[in-house]
Amino acid sequence: MIPTAGRVRETDNMRAAMTPIDPEICATLRAATRVVILTGAGVSAESGIPTFRDKQTGLWERFEAAELATPRAFERDPALVWGWYEWRRAAVFRAQPNAGHRAIAAMAARVPEFTLITQNVDDLHERGGSRDVLHLHGEIASPRCEVCGIPHALPSEMPELSPTDGRLEPPHCESCGGRIRPGVVWFGESLPSAPWARAREAARRSEVFLVCGTSSLVQPAASLTDMAIAAGAATIQVNPHRTEADDSVRFILRGTAATVLPQLIADTWS
Ligand code: OAD
Repeated sequence: MIPTAGRVRETDNMRAAMTPIDPEICATLRAATRVVILTGAGVSAESGIPTFRDKQTGLWERFEAAELATPRAFERDPALVWGWYEWRRAAVFRAQPNAGHRAIAAMAARVPEFTLITQNVDDLHERGGSRDVLHLHGEIASPRCEVCGIPHALPSEMPELSPTDGRLEPPHCESCGGRIRPGVVWFGESLPSAPWARAREAARRSEVFLVCGTSSLVQPAASLTDMAIAAGAATIQVNPHRTEADDSVRFILRGTAATVLPQLIADTWS
């Protein structure tokens, strides 16, 4: 255990992968009826999906992820942005859920009321066994027409990207001819109202609120942690690095999702 100032208690699970989980965390989790977990890109990192703060590689090394994920970028260069999302969709398609995704699904089976909220646009939680996932930032495999809003079915095989710059013209709507856009929430856009309302409600009712694999930099998703704290929940963060939430959560488990989450389950319910 690393003693830390104030009320935050930090355990370092980085150097010694099998460091036991703080027994107080296990006891708190075991006793809880209502548990919420908010996940971010870090949960899929060990499945090979780059996070938004990682330096991009290959075709995309000249671009910042956050600069491509905006309505302005799509307006200015639709083929560039569509090509980038198709490249990410192909990466998700090839990826497999990791032990962190599976541990979250296993936790759901042990807690009477469990809510999984994710900022991730991949389907690795679902493929890892989770049901009823609240996707705050949309889903990469569910594009829609930007004019009439009708969902657009994508071919199951991945399209060919330009070998030189990764660009790909977006398809057009079969119903109205409008341009198809990725089914994700871009910076500056509102969150989908139904999952956002359910996420706020769950955060306010939670007894334990886990925040895992997110930098807690992007609002309003990050504000869910503050809502849970204001409601008196015990907050537990799982992340190998410092985040915006470090000073406000109650417990920090310093390690990766695929290492710490399975151990948290094992130590809590063994
Ligand atoms: P970020 O890319 O901002 O942060 C990823 C977090 O994961 C960082 O805090 C890393 O330290 C942590 N991390 C890395 N590897 C990890 C691992 N193996 N296990 C656990 N944690 C790990 O991702 P998000 O916080 O999800 O939004 O970003 C939030 C939103 O900003 C995204 O949904 C996206 C993005 O721009 C939109 O596109 C609207």
